[in-house]
Amino acid sequence: MQNKIIILDFGSQYTQLIARRVRELNVYCEIHPFYHVPELDESVKGVVLSGSPSSVRDEKAPVPDLSKIEGQVPVLGICYGAQHMALAAGGAVEASDSREYGRANLEFINRENPLFSEIEIGSQVWMSHGDTIMNLPQGFEIIASTRDVKVAGYHVPEKQAYGIQFHPEVYHSIQGLQILRNFVVDICGCVQDWSPASFVEDSVSQLKEQLGSDKVVLGLSGGVDSSVAAILLHKAVGSNLTCIFVDNGLLRKNEFALVLESYKHMGLNVIGVDARDRFLDELAGVSDPETKRKIIGRVFIEVFDEEAHKIQNVKWLAQGTIYPDVIESVSVNGPSVTIKSHHNVGGLPEKMNLKVVEPLKLLFKDEVRRVGKELQISPTILGRHPFPGPGLAIRILGDITAEKVSLLQEVDHIFIEGLKSNGLYDQVWQAGAMLLPIQSVGVMGDERTYERVVALRAVQSTDGMTADWVHLPYEFLSRISNEIINKVRGVNRVVYDISSKPPATIEWE
Ligand code: XMP
Repeated sequence: MQNKIIILDFGSQYTQLIARRVRELNVYCEIHPFYHVPELDESVKGVVLSGSPSSVRDEKAPVPDLSKIEGQVPVLGICYGAQHMALAAGGAVEASDSREYGRANLEFINRENPLFSEIEIGSQVWMSHGDTIMNLPQGFEIIASTRDVKVAGYHVPEKQAYGIQFHPEVYHSIQGLQILRNFVVDICGCVQDWSPASFVEDSVSQLKEQLGSDKVVLGLSGGVDSSVAAILLHKAVGSNLTCIFVDNGLLRKNEFALVLESYKHMGLNVIGVDARDRFLDELAGVSDPETKRKIIGRVFIEVFDEEAHKIQNVKWLAQGTIYPDVIESVSVNGPSVTIKSHHNVGGLPEKMNLKVVEPLKLLFKDEVRRVGKELQISPTILGRHPFPGPGLAIRILGDITAEKVSLLQEVDHIFIEGLKSNGLYDQVWQAGAMLLPIQSVGVMGDERTYERVVALRAVQSTDGMTADWVHLPYEFLSRISNEIINKVRGVNRVVYDISSKPPATIEWE
């Protein structure tokens, strides 16, 4: 890795966005919590200080130790980061009337300053701050102002430091990416050579070195992350990689056979394990959602462990962990509860006593897809909707039986195939069907029926943390509803879920 930017996180909701933007410029970057300033080596070309929900005037405000950085490499402080540097050098930051939220325009710009090269006077930027820098210390020069905020940008030539009060990383800062480019490329001198191809090349050679001729085992789920991790590792260690794909009986219709086949086509050495009965037996009579999740997690670990023990001399367990999971677990605010409860197989490494290798832990989700494309993984695998680890178990409300699973598989199949054949699948982030624990009255022919109700759900999202329901065409919903009721015995009513997250969640359990 030739060059990188370090982003120090002070807890801003936008920190990941800064990283995304820098990577869009094809420059590698890493996020570190503000209290852990990494050692500077030759690869570090610059540092960005993020914003923060705190005020620099709070007693408990996050205070970084920048002594190792200042004057060594260029630093760009954004919002809180800018205020912190100004205050630490003896300036004044106050909660004032000149606070700004939302759009503002840069009415003054020092266009000779490299940070603002090619930025137009009047350029729209996004502000979100309660505090304002009122006085700058000696050696700080104002390089941009808005109507209400005099110090919208400053430069400290002696320290190679820059501060901006607005957020260049958000979309509403129209020339924000150009400002970041000016910093990262012109000021820090980064070469824009971070790309899926360079990632594959670097990772494969690092993995070769790290793993040598050791044997590695990896759990495949059919999802994007584990598939991309598998192909990357396969390139590095070839047949020393064994993949295990467990059928827990809670997958989509025909999913196990289809996905297993496509993995074999990709040249992977995959063991398919039919553990359907074992999972269903353990789940019999259980209705509580968290208990279901725990049982599935435990049984998965047991099955995986047994299979892995059949392979001689395994040293490594590979996992498809991606960057947002890593950042969450070291974030300023501590690990996120939501993400944690979704880590169904969390206990695996401890139980197996293997060393862990995580080849995707530096990538964002869409970068995983781009790397997958570079590795020529089929679009059907790369474009798959997310599917929860506990599968249909958390879409069957109440207890689970083989009969309910197969009924829901049929319903889900009709819905998903319908989305695909109507060109809607790729416009939806995630879709699926729920089997409700109620029956409703209906009429078929001359007879009254008393049968099951299913709910369809299709959402738009970027990361699953928030989501909105998709306005699928009425025509389409009407056809799918008819098809389900006509073809799936035992269902006489179909409803469509029109709730957003929050306050609802994507899954019903
Ligand atoms: P919720 O229902 O929390 O879901 O809005 C957000 C995203 O996470 C998936 N999900 C899970 N994934 N194990 C998983 O691997 C789980 O227990 C689990 N619960 C929810 C859900 O499908 C959606 O993509």
